[in-house]
Amino acid sequence: MPIDPRKQLIRDLPKAELHIHIEGSLEPEMMFSLAQRNGVELPYANVEAIREAYQFNCLQDFLDLYYQGMSVLQTRQDFYDLTWAYLQRCREDNVVHTEIFFDPQGHTGRGIEFDTVFEGIWSALQDGEHELGISSRVIMCFLRHLDQDDAFATLEQAGPYLDRITGVGLDSSEVGHPPSKFFAVFEQAGQMGLKRVAHAGEEGPPEYIYEAVDGLQVDRIDHGNRALEDHLLVQRLAELKLPLTVCPQSNLRLAVVPDMKAHPIRTMLAAGLKVTVNSDDPAYFGGYMNDNFNALVDATDLSADEIIKLVRNSFKASFLDKHAKLAHLKTVQAILGH
Ligand code: ADE
Ligand code: ZN
Repeated sequence: MPIDPRKQLIRDLPKAELHIHIEGSLEPEMMFSLAQRNGVELPYANVEAIREAYQFNCLQDFLDLYYQGMSVLQTRQDFYDLTWAYLQRCREDNVVHTEIFFDPQGHTGRGIEFDTVFEGIWSALQDGEHELGISSRVIMCFLRHLDQDDAFATLEQAGPYLDRITGVGLDSSEVGHPPSKFFAVFEQAGQMGLKRVAHAGEEGPPEYIYEAVDGLQVDRIDHGNRALEDHLLVQRLAELKLPLTVCPQSNLRLAVVPDMKAHPIRTMLAAGLKVTVNSDDPAYFGGYMNDNFNALVDATDLSADEIIKLVRNSFKASFLDKHAKLAHLKTVQAILGH
């Protein structure tokens, strides 16, 4: 059977990824081999057993396994290997720019030095730029189930690396941990010249999105699905042109949507929201960038024009400078033959 032309378009177009937790790209095979390399015990007999465990009813089900999984990451080489493997997937999917999240507290909290984590990730990203031509940015996330003092301490630890960190983010267990818990640390990050993003409206109510916009002063919202429950909020996000980094397969696997057919991405586009497609935690949710686009193609009437819009948005919503954005948009245009 010939390939669906929309899937061919997805393959052909260069894309940017703006919502990927690097620890969420830890494939079961690598988890298993790093566990052996580092003498870490995992509660699984083999790789298949790990995959079978990936059945989630909600965000917290996933987070429990995500934190357990990252325990195998111990050395600078481990973080290098993790990031390098992700960059190979970027190359396969024609992702030419990526803005990756990392969770320092997920590592420092179990005795791994900030330096080990950061330098491992960074050296892979440098090699990715030079050997694969993939540009990147790094966003340091605060874990919202921990308190703000912990986030402040992490921001201080990041001091020596800040010339290589583009922004701060907010992730982990959303409900019960509203953005308002972190207003002060985000304010300080902003004063230090860092970009700001936050997970909001994945499981949390529209109120959390208002807090992220008005209180955290974010440059992008990660997920934002529940904005659709409040039409005034949708209007506001559209007017502000505030990007939403949407993650279709994550939404399905974490029961944010009941069915991929019911995914609201087309509604979001029609409402004028600046949405992008991303993989979130690809090793846990069944796929990387193109898998996420293809899942939408399989389940919805996503059109070629909508795909092009989503791809253009990925560059426009990135933290690349104006010239780099324009260059990528021109490439997209050239591939489309206009
Ligand atoms: N950490 C990793 N993935 C996450 C997600 N989808 N939501 C919140 N925190 C996360
Ligand atoms: Zn996420």
